[in-house]
Amino acid sequence: MSTVLAIETSCDETAVAIVQERQILSNVVSSQIQVHQPYGGVVPEVASRQHVEMVNWAIEQALQQADLGWSGIDGIAATCAPGLVGALLVGVTAAKTLALLHQKPFLGVHHLEGHIYASYLSEPDLQPPFLCLLVSGGHTSLIHVKDCGLYQTLGQTRDDAAGEAFDKVARLLNLGYPGGPVIDRLAQTGNPGAYTLPEGKVSLPQGGYHPYDSSFSGLKTAVLRLTQSLPPASLSVPDLAASFQAAVAKALTKRTIACALDLGLTTIAVGGGVAANSGLRQHLQMAATEKGLRVLFPPLKFCTDNAAMIACAAADHLNRGHQSPLMLGVQSRMSLADVMQLYPTTRIELLELHHPIASGSLS
Ligand code: KG4
Ligand code: ZN
Repeated sequence: MSTVLAIETSCDETAVAIVQERQILSNVVSSQIQVHQPYGGVVPEVASRQHVEMVNWAIEQALQQADLGWSGIDGIAATCAPGLVGALLVGVTAAKTLALLHQKPFLGVHHLEGHIYASYLSEPDLQPPFLCLLVSGGHTSLIHVKDCGLYQTLGQTRDDAAGEAFDKVARLLNLGYPGGPVIDRLAQTGNPGAYTLPEGKVSLPQGGYHPYDSSFSGLKTAVLRLTQSLPPASLSVPDLAASFQAAVAKALTKRTIACALDLGLTTIAVGGGVAANSGLRQHLQMAATEKGLRVLFPPLKFCTDNAAMIACAAADHLNRGHQSPLMLGVQSRMSLADVMQLYPTTRIELLELHHPIASGSLS
């Protein structure tokens, strides 16, 4: 049973959590949203500075809330990819320093693997294989989760990520940042059938459409055209928000259900900030129930960025003897298929390195 302290600083949340296997002992999130709001999006340099200011406080809070000292921690983890390089560096440097100081294993964690593990936090009995629909500000992917560290991406967006589309449409409509929650709120009072918007099919060179890939840039452009073509007085922002949200929910649901059925996977876990979207939750839940599939949505606080999901992923790797070298760098982009590159050595190999078993000593 591993207890891991993890730091997540890949974007605009300074988060630290302590997790024992799949049980959360503490979960601290300090959001920078208010700092970035005047700019209409995340300013990378500002994000890094905010992380530097908050990270030590967040670590202390996490230890206090869990009522633990360093002796109770088995491993120290940090998100190391993908994300804003300067922001990632703050968390990774803090985690490596603590690992060195307290002589604990260090683990670099892939941010998207963390979003997959958010489902384990709320469903402790969940086991692979299952299908994960990962919808965040930077990614929209359908992932076959085969085992810890073993992922196959079957579908993705060809342009904007789902969360990015929410943010861009909100900016178009002058609704502020981040766009997802505000569109979600407005959509509750709008008519989703008011405007017809495109589904965003992805054509294949040999003809036909990719069954699992999506595209959201056409949808965003369609919203822009509507705002330009209609006189402002006749445009209903709640109706447009509801129609846009319904179009995203339908596109994601169609691809997710098709993928699960084709692969014979009966469980779908949804992760990432857009998993908080009420339209997606309703639409996907209904379609899954119709097909006899189980769909899991983490509680809202585990959909958006947090360190508990990073700690949960790290604990699973640590249980398998995985750890990262202190030389590990950060990367702005990294495929989920390369997750195991973060763990080139296992603890067992390291132990052997320090205490070599001479072949003669066993005889
Ligand atoms: O996973 P996340 O916190 O950060 C990334 O890893 O990107 O996702 C942030 C994204 C933002 O684009 C935000 O607008 C979107 O998730 N989001 C939502 C909702 N809450 C957050 N999108 C739609 N509906 C929501 N309720
Ligand atoms: Zn995220």
